[in-house]
This record gives sequence, C-alpha cells and structure tokens, in this order.
Amino acid sequence: MQTDILVIGSGIAGLTYALKTATHFPEKKVMVITKTQADETNTKYAQGGIAGVWDEEKDSYTKHIDDTLIAGDGLCNEHIVEIVVKEGPERIKEIIGYGAEFDKDEKGEYSLGKEGGHSENRILHHKDVTGKEMERALLAQLKLVPNIELVNHCFVVDIITQHHLGYLVTKSTLDITCYGVYVLNLHTNQIEKILAKITLLATGGCGQAYRTTTNPQIATGDGIAMVYRAKGKIENMEFIQFHPTALYEPGVSPSFLITEAVRGDGGILRNKEGQAFMENYDPRKDLAPRDIVARAIDNEMKRSGTEQVYLDCTHMDKEKFIHHFPNIYEKCLRIGIDVMKQMIPVAPAAHYSCGGIKTDEWGRTSIQHLYACGECASTGLHGANRLASNSLLEAMVFGHRCFLDSIQQLDAIDFENRIPDWNATGTSEPSEMILITQSKKELQQIMSDYVGIVRTDVRLERAMKRLDLLFAETETLYRSTKLSPQLCELRNIISVGYLIVKGAQFRKESRGLHFNTDHKNRSELLQNVIL
Ligand code: FAD
Ligand code: SIN
Repeated sequence: MQTDILVIGSGIAGLTYALKTATHFPEKKVMVITKTQADETNTKYAQGGIAGVWDEEKDSYTKHIDDTLIAGDGLCNEHIVEIVVKEGPERIKEIIGYGAEFDKDEKGEYSLGKEGGHSENRILHHKDVTGKEMERALLAQLKLVPNIELVNHCFVVDIITQHHLGYLVTKSTLDITCYGVYVLNLHTNQIEKILAKITLLATGGCGQAYRTTTNPQIATGDGIAMVYRAKGKIENMEFIQFHPTALYEPGVSPSFLITEAVRGDGGILRNKEGQAFMENYDPRKDLAPRDIVARAIDNEMKRSGTEQVYLDCTHMDKEKFIHHFPNIYEKCLRIGIDVMKQMIPVAPAAHYSCGGIKTDEWGRTSIQHLYACGECASTGLHGANRLASNSLLEAMVFGHRCFLDSIQQLDAIDFENRIPDWNATGTSEPSEMILITQSKKELQQIMSDYVGIVRTDVRLERAMKRLDLLFAETETLYRSTKLSPQLCELRNIISVGYLIVKGAQFRKESRGLHFNTDHKNRSELLQNVIL
C-alpha cells in the first residue's frame, strides 16, 4: 500500500492533522489508521474540557501563559507555551466550525469552567463529556472529505527506516528517515507494509503502564516505543501525571474519572476523618496544580492506611451539578452513591504522559519525514507537570503546525520502493497467550509499586531490575511467535516503563510530577532528560 500522508491515530491530534492536509491537497491520498475502532481514543474520555483565553475582559494570554509555566515547575519551553496559548483560541473556533458544541450560559455566552492551577475561568466544555463531543465532530467532518481513507483495526508494529534496508542506524545517525510503517492488519492477520511520504504519529499516551489508570486499553505508548526502537529522541518520560480524583472502584479498569471541574465548581477533598485536608498542603487548596493535590492525597492515604479519600459535593446545588456533570451523577448512582447525600470515594490514577517523542515547534521529530503530535509528543508545553485541560488544546495547535510544515515538504519527497516485506520466518502461533497477559499485569504492578507518585532511588533500582527480566522474556517471545496486538503492546509498554524509570533515575531532584524522597530539594538542574 502507498499513501502520500499517513496518520497513525484517530484521536484529536491525528484527526485535526488529517482534515487539514486532506482539505489542502484534495488530489493527494491521506490514510488514517487506528488499532481498534475510530473513536476508541483517550480523546473520547476527556471530561473537563479545553482551556483557552476566551473572555479577554477578565482573562489574558499572559495569565494563561503564567499558569502553564507555574504548573510546569520550571521546565516548560516558554516559546512553545506562548505559541499554544496564543494560537489556541483560533483552533477552538475551527472545531466549533466543524460542529462541536460547548455549553453556554443563560446569556448565550460560553460557560467557562475552572480547574486546578488556572487563575481564571477558561475551560470550554460540553457537560462532562467534552472529548466525546469533540471526537464526534471531528469524525463527522472526516466523512465529508473524500480523499481521507480511515482504516480501523490496523495495528502499527514499527516505523520503517534505513534499518529495514540493511543499514546500521544508531542514536548518532543524523539522517534517520521514515519511509512508512509495518502494520498487523487485524482483518487478514497479515503483516503488511504501508509506504508514505510523510507519517504523523498521533498514538496517544501510555497510562496502561500502571495498574490504576484513567486511560483506556489502547493507551500503551506504542508511538513512543516505536520511535525509541527506531533510535529517535524521547524526553521527559519521568513526568507521568496522576489525576488526583479517579473514582475508587477496586477491580475496575480503566478507572472512571471524576473531573477536576467538580472541584472547580466547589467540590472539597476530605480525608477519612472528614477533614478538608488540602488547606494543610497548599494555599490554593483543592485547586492547586495536580502534582500537589495527588501527592497530598497519597500522603493522606498513607497516613490513615486507607486506599481512598473522599470528594464532598453534598453542599453543591443539585440542579447545577446534574446540569454540568450528568455522566458523573449517573455513574455514581449506578454504583449506589447519591453524590448529593454521600461523598465520592476517590484515589489518584495514572492519567497523562507529559514527556514523549521530542518535537520542535513544527511537530518535527528527530526522524526525517516523521511528525508527532498530541499526547505521544513532547513539545515543551507541559514541562514537569501539565496544566489541566491544556492537552486537547496542544493537540489541536500542533495538529495545525504539523500541517503547515508538512505541506511545504510533501512535494520534495519520493516513496522509497526498496523496502522488503516483513519477514515472519521461524515464528509460530503462541502456545500460551496467558503469558502475555500475566507479563502485562506484572509490568503494571512494578510501575505502580515502585515508580508511582512518590519514588526513591532503591525503588527505581528494583523496578529496573524487574523490567530487565520482563524485557528479556518478552523479546524471546517476540522473536519466536507470530505477532498479535497483545504481544506488540506488551513489548511497547515494557519499553515505555523502561523509559520512565530511566528518566526518573537520571533526574537527581524532585520537580513537578517527579518526586523522589532521596532528592527532595529542587536543584538548579533545569534541563530536559533526553533518552
Ligand atoms: P488519543 O486520543 O489517545 O488517540 C490515540 C490514537 O492512536 C487511537 O486512535 C489509537 O487507536 C491509535 N493508536 C495507538 N497506537 C496505535 C498503533 N500501534 N497502531 C494503530 N493505531 C494506534 N485533556 C484535556 O485537555 N482536557 C480534559 O478534560 C481531559 N480529560 C481527560 C479525561 C480522561 C479520562 C483521559 C484519559 C484523558 C483526558 N485528557 C484531557 C487528556 C486528553 O484526552 C488526551 O491527552 C488527548 O485526547 C490525546 O489525544 P491524542 O489524539 O494524542 O491521542
Ligand atoms: C479532568 O477533567 O479533570 C481532566 C482534565 C485534564 O486531564 O486535562
């Protein structure tokens, strides 16, 4: 197969880019591939909304920039922050143009919510299902553009580079080039190659590296692992964001999110004794940035020996609550909690990867003809901790920037026709699929136990030793077994686990989301860890 432009991922990042390039080049072919069905993405589960300076009388770019920089704890790239904040509102207007609806107040103005770390109300939202609405609008728009082919159930195994032509490629190779990808076509169960002039990775995050996560099954860090294997640059993987308030429901995966917007509307965190504990940790109390709130909850749980704290909404107005958070209200009722009468049990869960594939201000990776945007990319916006609701915004701004840059490159690029077919000789059907499931559980256990909210040098060392063993076992399986999505995902998530631990070991300080009790004091070490 051949396509001018190949987009891997059908979340907000991939779809934004695909729509723009296909519309700009009606005669070129744009292919979007996704490993399950098109709307099964992190995007679909986004609740709180999208941040943007909308009301310029009360809010300003400077305030949004400052809030982002404060949350990022000294590691944001200020130039990128300015780009995203200033270009964001235009991108939001575009998705409104595609038909996405955001809630309005009685005066017909957009109703702007507030979340942790924001100094003003600036979150546009659609009830508590903002991502679902945005994904719906993007997919509906996609149907109107005839030169986009959307291929579901197609699992990308690896990106193709000179390595597949038999050349030695190392981290020092300057001109590593992407020629397309090998995919496992789940309709035929065959490995096929797709050649492309330009490839965009929009493969999302890696929450599935942890036992408790808000991320759906698809979030296994595939794009990050592929770029790492191809010797491209990855950075800042130690900054895994734990959302403070996932619904505490043991055994249920992924965890259901209780959006931060609930705290923005007045929800209060309380410990086992019923005390509103956030005032003991930060003057911004329940609306402090996420790293601070998640650590405070972790501390309260450890102190009281419980596995949850509580989010108290019993004092809130019932009608307003149901109007803004109908999905949360219904979900809690289904498990026997009337949020107007009972507090909601919550606990932190792995939520967002701030690091990822290193890109420049146009979304270019360190590999030629390969772009990355959305959660799999590390643009420099989030630094050591992402400000709430900045991620949907970043995905749209960089989807647009990747588009602007790639339309200038496309005509100068040719297909590389010498790429060999995938070689599956010497592999056989797996005799025990259960080994893959067990290894994934083991990985999640290791990451949750040793590389969670609070880290130590000894824990990181333990994690690394255990990951080494899992890696060796999985590579043996990979070389001898016919590929399955489960095996590829396991292999990817082990690589991601390795990158998180490696990044955490390099960073000899506590900063933002990376908190190591052996290196409590933040040093002046202000550089990104590139792996
Ligand atoms: P995704 O939307 O995750 O899409 C990834 C795509 O890549 C999928 O189509 C998947 O199939 C495909 N893919 C992955 N690997 C492969 C492969 N190997 N082969 C083929 N296809 C592949 N952010 C905010 O700004 N505001 C919010 O309110 C908010 N709420 C959130 C709530 C929840 C519960 C979660 C989980 C996240 C939330 N976030 C929020 C974060 C935000 O939703 C994500 O960061 C963002 O949607 C990521 O978009 P994306 O396009 O990069 O990736
Ligand atoms: C939430 O709604 O609390 C999630 C927002 C985000 O992750 O940005």
